[in-house]
Amino acid sequence: MRKKILIKNIKLLVQTRPDTTLKVSGKRMAEINTISNSYISVKNGIIDDFGSMSDYKFNEKEYFIIEASGKMVFPSFCDSHTHLVYAGSREIEYIDKIKGLSYEEIAKRGGGILNSSKLLNETPEEILYQQSLERINEIISQGTGAVEIKSGYGLSLKGELKMLRVIKKLKENTELIIKSTFLGAHAVPYEYKNNRTGFVKHVVNEILPKVAEEGLADYIDVFCDKGFFTVNDTDKILSAGAKYGLRPKIHANELDFSGGVQIGVKHKALSVDHLEYIGDNEIEALLGAETMPTILPGAAFFLNLPFAPVRKMITVGLPIAIASDFNPGSSPSGNMKLMMSLAMVNYRMTAQEVINAATINSAYAMGVSNIAGSITIGKKANLFITKKIPTVEFFTYAYGSDLIDTVILNGKIYTKN
Ligand code: NIG
Ligand code: FE
Repeated sequence: MRKKILIKNIKLLVQTRPDTTLKVSGKRMAEINTISNSYISVKNGIIDDFGSMSDYKFNEKEYFIIEASGKMVFPSFCDSHTHLVYAGSREIEYIDKIKGLSYEEIAKRGGGILNSSKLLNETPEEILYQQSLERINEIISQGTGAVEIKSGYGLSLKGELKMLRVIKKLKENTELIIKSTFLGAHAVPYEYKNNRTGFVKHVVNEILPKVAEEGLADYIDVFCDKGFFTVNDTDKILSAGAKYGLRPKIHANELDFSGGVQIGVKHKALSVDHLEYIGDNEIEALLGAETMPTILPGAAFFLNLPFAPVRKMITVGLPIAIASDFNPGSSPSGNMKLMMSLAMVNYRMTAQEVINAATINSAYAMGVSNIAGSITIGKKANLFITKKIPTVEFFTYAYGSDLIDTVILNGKIYTKN
């Protein structure tokens, strides 16, 4: 780790916040604070100072200097919902989908999550780790500095422990901030085909205690949706998780008005994610709650789902977070910049709103907004320097361009090109 880094002559330092701001809601999502012609200094991987070049007083010999004229500095993206530990890929289903089969139809034919589960259970832990590490390196180069990763392709004690151990190893061996989520109830496996309730019991009584005993999970998740797990199943699993101190972050309302949002809020979920089916009752439940509504624009795009009513949600005062859902079935991309462009076009969010949604609010949605998600003294210096760009809006407008030049994570500098 380089001890001291100084970035100077920054065209625009984006998303500066006091340490008291842990999320932004409603109208405040339209504002980001910026400082033009600025500097930022990093010491031991932590943001030490920042400000205008007019206040620049440093003994440059003590620092590794990065010149950033014409470039912008952003806090790294926080991707609060991914399934990036998976085996292989599922491009054949993608073709089935294009031919017209629905997500549920593919799942019923033994495709979907069950397909990934079979592959995962057959793949040795070391290979799974290597495949996942490649994805981690890809998202680092795309500007992500914190990521939540779920289990959920095990659907068995052995498979779940394997996934969660891989996540633990990624935490230990990479510079990213990583949170892990136990998603035991992601789909009903073949062995429990006509016995969903039996599988829920297995998750609660056999898998969860082992996961908790090894300290492998930070959070707990359930796929609470039509054709997967009911509100009642979710209630049972989240209650059992609470006994081990696991706060929920759940899949809700992707395929129907499933009751997922309400049961998530009831269990004080940190976030409820997907939200394609949101009506007045769901909005009512979310207002005043500590739960972050999180949209996954990649999944809605890739599966051709309806889009969450984000404008309405922001107008009534709710916060919104954006995550990638990086997974082999519904969103085979962890590119947060692309997710932000999709959110602007498909949900009619502004550039400022998507920046808040992909930094401070998504940091909140994974429980790290005290250490990440904004340019704040004392937070981790996970940030990136853009290429030369004319405006903040250009960053997401040029939706297919790689505009990230240099990434800094935990004091380590990754220079591209
Ligand atoms: O978030 N919705 C449930 N789970 C994943 C899909 C996982 C898969 O298809 O492999 C999602 O979209
Ligand atoms: Fe997901």
